Amino acid sequence: MIETERQRLSAVAHVTSLMWGPIDEATLDDMVEQVASLEIGPGSRVLDLGCGPAELLRRIVERTGASGVGVDASPFALDEARARTARSSVGDRIELRLADAQQMDRRPAHDLVLCIGPGWDAGGWSELTGWTAGFVAAGGHLLLGQGSWRRVPTVGELRMLGMELGDYPPTDAVEAIVARAGVEVLWSHRASREDWDAYGERYRGAMLKFARSSPDDPIAAAARDRSGEGWRTYELLHALLDFVLLLGKPGAVASRS
Ligand SMILES: C[S@@+](CC[C@H](N)C(=O)[O-])C[C@H]1O[C@@H](n2cnc3c(N)ncnc32)[C@H](O)[C@@H]1O
Repeated sequence: MIETERQRLSAVAHVTSLMWGPIDEATLDDMVEQVASLEIGPGSRVLDLGCGPAELLRRIVERTGASGVGVDASPFALDEARARTARSSVGDRIELRLADAQQMDRRPAHDLVLCIGPGWDAGGWSELTGWTAGFVAAGGHLLLGQGSWRRVPTVGELRMLGMELGDYPPTDAVEAIVARAGVEVLWSHRASREDWDAYGERYRGAMLKFARSSPDDPIAAAARDRSGEGWRTYELLHALLDFVLLLGKPGAVASRS
């Protein structure tokens, strides 16, 4: 599948999702309030790397009065982000940029950097933390989201997923890894199994609906497969994976191990 088809498939699958991951409305609100409790306000700059529909960025800008930049490599994700910001009152304070986050210039630095579920190979938690911290201004903060193992997968499960044990750390190890990468953890949240199930329902339902309503579309076969036979792989992944959200302050190197 070519990259633009993959990007379109992702946009189709998330058409009914608030954020493009296992994050419910209450958790989204919680993240916004956590950020609002920091010194983020008018004049602050927020950067969202891999912003997708930019739901979190938009809500943070609305709540705090900051201005924001959302970066995504998918034109389909940015279309959705543009539609959502156009319906809001803060469109003039959000710049949406079609770009590869991995090629982004780190300057000017930002007061808050978001990177929730990077859609590229961002490395493990340590690499993601170190890399995103490079975009943060002195005294600023990071809000990250990525997977971790809820339980140790068996060799057979890893083979079925085409993954390796080292692809993720166990959930319990995430905070210590982030702290070792030089970021003081201020708040964290772990997606529940219900969050994954609800996300999976939305994702699968949107794929099924699309495959039925647009059977001749070039991505219809992929949508059919991923909501049918291929769905078993996703179910297994959701059973094994956590999704951890974490707010931190770079520069305060903690010695937790
Ligand atoms: C799992 S989604 C998360 C979106 C958003 N952060 C959210 O939580 O709603 C991952 C996003 O990363 C984007 N992406 C993938 N590779 C990228 C790259 N190299 N540069 C920028 N964005 C990228 C995808 O297009 C997608 O929108």
